[in-house]
Amino acid sequence: MNKNRNEIIWKDIKSDFPILNNVTYLDSASTSQKPTVVINKINELYTKYNANIHRGVYIFSEKTTAEYESSKEKVKKFLNISDASGYIAYTLNATYALNQIARMMEETYLNEGDEIICSIYEHHSNFLPWIEVAKRKHLNLKILYEVNIENIKKTLNRKTKVLALTHFSNVTGDIFDIGEILDYVNNTEYLNNGKCITVIDGTQAVGKIKIDIDKLNPSFYVFSAHKVFSPTGLGVYYVNKNIENKIKPVNYGGDMVNHVETNSCILKEMPYMLEAGTQNYESAIGLKSAIEYIENIGIENVEERLKVLSDYLRKKVMNLDYINAINIEKFFDVLSFSIKGIHSHDIASFLSERNVFIRAGYHCAEPLVSYINHDESLARVSLHIYNDFEDIDKFIDSIQDCYKYLKIK
Ligand SMILES: Cc1ncc(COP(=O)(O)O)c(C=O)c1O
Repeated sequence: MNKNRNEIIWKDIKSDFPILNNVTYLDSASTSQKPTVVINKINELYTKYNANIHRGVYIFSEKTTAEYESSKEKVKKFLNISDASGYIAYTLNATYALNQIARMMEETYLNEGDEIICSIYEHHSNFLPWIEVAKRKHLNLKILYEVNIENIKKTLNRKTKVLALTHFSNVTGDIFDIGEILDYVNNTEYLNNGKCITVIDGTQAVGKIKIDIDKLNPSFYVFSAHKVFSPTGLGVYYVNKNIENKIKPVNYGGDMVNHVETNSCILKEMPYMLEAGTQNYESAIGLKSAIEYIENIGIENVEERLKVLSDYLRKKVMNLDYINAINIEKFFDVLSFSIKGIHSHDIASFLSERNVFIRAGYHCAEPLVSYINHDESLARVSLHIYNDFEDIDKFIDSIQDCYKYLKIK
């Protein structure tokens, strides 16, 4: 499937995304733009076979159901998840998935005095659910300020029941060596045997770097489809079969039960018991098409292209001594920065006047931004395969103008 790198014409890739005509979109860590193939696939659903899934015995419903189910098969293949290893469940977004996981663990597995470890790098979505569970159940929540194997070895202990970690920071552009960490957790006798659940937030990673879930072997791995060229409203999570005994739905309703009486029900098998109510089959079908689009380019080529663009951005930003760039030496794809005396919102608004769209603020990771940038908000550039060197040049030119006009005289 993978194309030879030299066969890819990146200019053509950009033209696959119709919205990118005349704008410089540098906010893909927030959400990705959608290629024509995905837009057409959604159009096809609504013009050719739309019907609710798992309910009808007529052709439309069977077709939509088959597309929905094959979307999960596509995700499994893309992330290398074998049937023996675990399930893919769909929900509303990554935030919802992480909340569901935290609530399930609260109900089935966490007890007063247990310890949860989150890193300071977590997005609010993998922080707040654990803070709330810790409060309700009187658990100890510890923060990991450095994500590396040495610190993991020092911090994890017999009481640690959950390790919640981001794979790829949406602020610093760090990609953590989750493989090494999971290997340690899974193979350390006093932590494993189901005693330490690992919840990996892959929201920034999926679709940008190659991921092999069977090799990583986490308990849960989560992402949002809208960051992977798909429509909004779909969260995806992997559930390892080895924690099936800790899985209990937190939402009840239609389509997740086999039999219902006035005072009880018999749940469907995994993963259907986790999917109460009508699912976002539109986005699921879009995700299948988006993954096919990525597969056609090759995820290795995507990763390589993002590295080349990141290196180009790094070199250009390093020449501007008034920019305080976070993790400039190491960042991949996501670069946060501040300019002394100019608020991040003013930078983003100034650039918007020139049709250059970047993000500004705390990036839903306020503890991290406060920790690394003394409570000051940050502007952020994030790249995807539809960006090119011209986009980066345009960003640099606009930043130079911004500094010229807005710096404190
Ligand atoms: C690292 C990370 N985790 C979780 C999320 C939450 O994703 P969603 O808003 O789609 O639920 C984001 C979104 O920016 C993110 O960057």
